[in-house]
Amino acid sequence: MQILKSINLKVLRGEFVAIMGPSGSGKSTLMNMIGCLDRPTCGQVLIMNKDINLISDAELAKLRGLEIGFVFQNFSLIPRLSALENVLLPTYANVKEGVNPRKKAEDLISLVGLADRRYNKPTELSGGQQQRVAIARALINDPSLILADEPTGNLDSKTGEEIMKIFKDLNGMGRTIVMITHDANLAGYADRVVHLKDGIIENS
Ligand SMILES: Nc1ncnc2c1ncn2[C@@H]1O[C@H](COP(=O)(O)OP(=O)(O)OP(=O)(O)O)[C@@H](O)[C@H]1O
Ligand SMILES: [Mg+2]
Repeated sequence: MQILKSINLKVLRGEFVAIMGPSGSGKSTLMNMIGCLDRPTCGQVLIMNKDINLISDAELAKLRGLEIGFVFQNFSLIPRLSALENVLLPTYANVKEGVNPRKKAEDLISLVGLADRRYNKPTELSGGQQQRVAIARALINDPSLILADEPTGNLDSKTGEEIMKIFKDLNGMGRTIVMITHDANLAGYADRVVHLKDGIIENS
């Protein structure tokens, strides 16, 4: 079954783009393509001018590990690891040269306001705190691009706004952000909203 059709989407460095659309319209599928979790069966995905269909699995894994940070609706933290260990996790697979992972993780945990909770396990943290850990983890390798699939879907609206402010700050520091949301209010934090319906972009 063809999920995405005639998609033509260009995200510029430094942009904050929100993707909206009904359930089943293909938002997560599109994000998995952008995030190189799936390769397209036809068409091209270019990340920093590299066609992901033309590079090896190893190169793709490296590109994904170093240049893209993922944030998911359900936080996807490892329960038996502390907040700090969760943030460090991606560095076991990939790490940028000259970076001290432990120092970087400590800095990021502070950046998201959780320095005093860094040794706590995810179950000892609120939903908003868990999502902040997940954001710190997404940032550990200094990715150029942050992809967030309904990052506030499991949070109350006030906590959702707090998470949006973190994204807005990160965008202000020059990071590119692509975020899926069902909430038009939260989409208002983005520079641009892309509406997807039945696998087609209605506007952009
Ligand atoms: N692994 C899969 N295999 C087959 N079909 C799939 C798979 N994943 C998703 N689909 C189908 O692709 C379509 C788009 O799904 P997708 O998850 O991208 O939607 P979505 O816009 O993210 O929806 P939601 O808002 O509910 O998260 C749906 O019809 C879905 O059933
Ligand atoms: Mg989805």
